[in-house]
Amino acid sequence: MYYSDDVIEEVRSRNDIVDVISSYVKLKRQGSSYFGLCPFHSEKSPSFSVSPGKQMYYCFGCGAGGNVLTFVMEYENFTFPEAMKFLAERAGMTLPEEEYSEEARRQRDLKERVREINKMAANYFYYMLRSPQGERALAYLKNRGLSDETMKRFGLGYAGQYSDALYRYLRGKGISDQLLKESGLMQVNERQGMYDKFWNRVMFPIMDVNNRVIGFGGRVMGDAKPKYLNSPETVIFDKSRNLYGLNYARTAKKRYMLVCEGYMDVISMHQAGFTNAVASLGTALTTQHATLLKRYTDEVILTYDSDEAGIRAALRAIPMLREAGISTRVLHMEPYKDPDEFIKALGTEAFQQRIDQAENSFLFELSVLQKSYDMKNPDGKTRFFQAAAARIAEFEQEIERENYIEAVAGRFQISFEGLRKMVMSVLMQGVPQRKQAVQSVQQEKKRSEKADGIRRSQQLILTWLVEYPNLYGTVSRYIHPEDFSDELYREVALLLYEQREKNEVNPAQIINHFSDAEQQRTVAQLFNAQVKIEKPRELEKAVQETIYKVVEQAIGQKSRELDPTDMKGLQELVDAKRRLQEIRRLHISL
Ligand code: UTP
Ligand code: MN
Repeated sequence: MYYSDDVIEEVRSRNDIVDVISSYVKLKRQGSSYFGLCPFHSEKSPSFSVSPGKQMYYCFGCGAGGNVLTFVMEYENFTFPEAMKFLAERAGMTLPEEEYSEEARRQRDLKERVREINKMAANYFYYMLRSPQGERALAYLKNRGLSDETMKRFGLGYAGQYSDALYRYLRGKGISDQLLKESGLMQVNERQGMYDKFWNRVMFPIMDVNNRVIGFGGRVMGDAKPKYLNSPETVIFDKSRNLYGLNYARTAKKRYMLVCEGYMDVISMHQAGFTNAVASLGTALTTQHATLLKRYTDEVILTYDSDEAGIRAALRAIPMLREAGISTRVLHMEPYKDPDEFIKALGTEAFQQRIDQAENSFLFELSVLQKSYDMKNPDGKTRFFQAAAARIAEFEQEIERENYIEAVAGRFQISFEGLRKMVMSVLMQGVPQRKQAVQSVQQEKKRSEKADGIRRSQQLILTWLVEYPNLYGTVSRYIHPEDFSDELYREVALLLYEQREKNEVNPAQIINHFSDAEQQRTVAQLFNAQVKIEKPRELEKAVQETIYKVVEQAIGQKSRELDPTDMKGLQELVDAKRRLQEIRRLHISL
C-alpha cells in the first residue's frame, strides 16, 4: 500500500498541526509556539510544544515528537495508511488509489504491512474469544479472575483449535505467504507447508508504547508445555526494547514503575489499580529496557517472583537500573509466588502495603549476600560485615556512605560506630585500587558527556538552520551534511540543506522520510534544540561557538580516519584547519 511522496506531503500540509492537535490537547500560545499538557506521558506543568512555523510537535518532558501524521498515529493508534485516510478526509481530499510500487520503499512498507497483519490477527483472536468456539478460553480467563473490562483493555483473545485457522483467514484477506512468513505468526515445515504458530491458546497481544500490536504471547489453558509461546523477533518486534504494559503504565500518575515477570502479573496488577506495572517479554531485563524505563520514571519497584529465579533476576536487574540512573526497591511477595497470586489471596490494600515496605535495593543485595555466611558463627558474622563494609565503601560520596552505614547497622543490628570504623578501614586500605576504579568510571562519564555535547551542538545547528534563514550561507560554507556524526543526523542535514538550497524549508516534510516512530522522535528533537539566551548578541556568539565546535569535531574525526599516505586527504585537512581559524573571526548576524 503506497502513497507517493507528493500525496503524503499534500495530506500533511493541508492539515495544520495546531488545528489538529487542538482538538485533542488544550493549547496555549507562548511566544512563537503553543504549549499544553503532553498526552503521551503524565505531567502537571506543560512541556508539550507545538510549533506552527515548523509544523511539528515535541515534548521536552518525554521526547515524543513528529509531524501531524506522527501525532494521529500515536494518539489514535493508527497505522500509516489509516492516518493518511483520516487526515485526507479531514481536509476534504480524495486519496488516489493505493499503488504497489518499487524496491526503494520495501523496508518501510514491510514494517507497515507486518504491523497491519499483527493488528488483523489481534482482531481475529479477539473475535474468536467471544465466539462460541472461544467458550472454554473465556471460562479459563474468567476463572483466573479477569473481568470483561480487563480482557477488553488488554485485547485478550483466543487462537482456535485448528492449526491453520489464522493462516486461512489471512490468506483470505489477500496476504501472501511471503509476508506471512515475516509476520512471526506462522511456522513452516516441509510436510505441512505453512501453518499457525499459535493454536488453542489464550492470546495476549503485545503492544508498543504507541498501542500498536507488535507480537503475541499465547498461554495453554492447562498444564501442557511450553506454558507460554511468544512471537519471534520480527521487523517490528524487538524484545529487548519493549515492555509489556508500558503503553498504559507510561500514563499512570505514579512516581515509580512496578516491574514484574509475566503477562498475567501485569494484567492482575492493572486490574487491581496498579496501572504502573510492566513486564519484560519472556526475557531478562536488558540495559535497553532500563534506558526505556528511565524515560518515564526515576524509581522502579521490582515485583519478581519470590523464588530463586526471581531473586537472581532481581540481582541482575538492580545494577542495570542503577547504571541507567534509576533507583530500585524490591517488593517481598512471601508467602506467595507472584503478584497475581498475592493480589488474589490478600487483595489490593495488602499489596499497596508491600509496595510501601519494599526494600532498598542495596539492602536487598546485602540480605542475599548474608545467606552465604554462617551468621551463628562469630567468624562468619565478622566476614559478612567486612564484605558489607567493602560494598558500602564503594559509594563515592561521604553522605551516601553515612546513610548506608546507618541503614545497614539498623537492618542487621550492629553498632553504627563499629560498622563505620570497618568502612573507614576499607577506605584506607583500598585507596589505590578504589581510586583507579573511580577514575575509569569518571573517564567513561567524560567520554559520554563529550559525545552528548557534540550531539547537542549538532542539534542546535540544525534547529537554527530552520529558525534563521540568514544562517545557511555561513553554515554551509563550513559544515557539510557528512560532517554530522550520526547516520540519522547526516540524512536529516542532507534533506534540510536541499530544502534551503531551494528556499523551501519544511522540517515537517523531512519527518515524512522516516517511518520508524523512534526516528521521527529523534528528528523532532533535532529541530527543537534550545539554549537559554536573552540578548541577540549572546545568541550570535553562541552560534559562532557552536559552528566552531562542530567543525572542530569533524576535523578530529577525519584526521583519526585519515590514511597517512593519502596526500589529497591530508591537504584537505590542512585547508579545513585553516578554515577553522576563520570561524573565530566570523561575524554572524541573524
Ligand atoms: P511464569 O511461569 O512465572 O508464568 O512466567 P506466570 O506469569 O506466573 O503465568 P501464569 O500465572 O502461570 O499464567 C513468567 C513469564 O515468563 C515467560 C512469560 O512471559 C511469562 O509471563 N514465559 C514463561 C515464557 O515465555 N514461556 C514459558 O514457557 C514460561
Ligand atoms: Mn502466575
